[in-house]
Amino acid sequence: MGKEKVQIFDTTLRDGEQVPGCKLDTKSKLVIAERLDLLGVDVIEAGFPASSPGDFHSVEEISKLVKNATVCGLTRAVKNDIKVAADALRFAKRPRIHTGIGTSDSHIKFKFNSTQDQIIERAVASVTYAKSFVEDIEFYAEDAGRTDNVFLARVCEAVIKAGATVLNIPDTTGYCLPDEYGAKIKFLKENVTGIDKAILSCHCHNDLGLATANSIAGVVNGARQIECTINGIGERAGNTSLEEVVMIMRQHPTLNLDTDINAKLLYDTSRLVSESMAMMVQPNKAVVGANAFAHSSGIHQDGVIKNRETYEIMNPHDVGVTESAIVLTARSGRAALAYRAKKVGFELDKLQLDKVYQSFLKIADLQKQINDDDIPKIVEAANI
Ligand code: KIV
Ligand code: ZN
Repeated sequence: MGKEKVQIFDTTLRDGEQVPGCKLDTKSKLVIAERLDLLGVDVIEAGFPASSPGDFHSVEEISKLVKNATVCGLTRAVKNDIKVAADALRFAKRPRIHTGIGTSDSHIKFKFNSTQDQIIERAVASVTYAKSFVEDIEFYAEDAGRTDNVFLARVCEAVIKAGATVLNIPDTTGYCLPDEYGAKIKFLKENVTGIDKAILSCHCHNDLGLATANSIAGVVNGARQIECTINGIGERAGNTSLEEVVMIMRQHPTLNLDTDINAKLLYDTSRLVSESMAMMVQPNKAVVGANAFAHSSGIHQDGVIKNRETYEIMNPHDVGVTESAIVLTARSGRAALAYRAKKVGFELDKLQLDKVYQSFLKIADLQKQINDDDIPKIVEAANI
């Protein structure tokens, strides 16, 4: 049986770009949008057109440029936002309006000073209005993570009736545990009349480091879209990281889920976004961090040199990384030293290696790392 497809909704240019210091001009956004299209994402959330003339312009230009992906614009449940988004998306081959409103008790009381019934009325009115412009309407129930499931099901049912094609269930505050978020999606699948007419979407924030786990719990329980960003950038602790969810599904065939992402472009796309936004990728970041395929302890290095699979569950080539790195530090062993020495032209026999290793340790204890340039000096100091 073929794998079921999970759509990838990329919000690097909207939720990701909300990060202080990550603002991009239209030109850089176009470069990233083009790359996301090439990467194979299903939806590009290009911006929030009513938020500023600059964002309107970017969404308009991205709509003209993108060939394959759906282009989406965010709105509040406000008529003018929706009208402006529809206008900005008018050139898109596949336009989507993403509208919504807070549904948790906290949002209803403190943000809107409203009631549950009034929130449903506003949700339905905004979906109905958006539907007068485009066919594809995604509705977000903001703070769904902390929203009572029975009320959330009522909201979902009402907006499906009004024409919503995708239901976004955001864990806006990154509060849910994976079991809890998965159970929420399952509850909606089982209790919302008409749920087969819409796709459930996971939009998880990373405040407790659970965004990826929650998104996977969501798709395991029936969601078929994940909202994510390159490098996991986004509000506060960020969003679900695109590269992580894509590779989890790919590396775990028993999930029977997959995406259309060309994973070989992941590393380069990560660098492109990081450089454009001047937002460094933490070295230990899963899949795309500088150390994701670097081995520095002697025990691991010995294993990887014998067979990569002893300490790697992914092939670096599959995500666009040229090769695994054997990093030389004072924790490295002879196998790693021999391997790196050979790469720079020194083929050492056992006796020579023993001597060079002693000279290596002296220098390695003084330096954080031994580079290729240091190796000839170390060999020379060993007097072999
Ligand atoms: O986190 C969130 O709830 C959002 C919505 C606006 C979709 O980003
Ligand atoms: Zn968000």
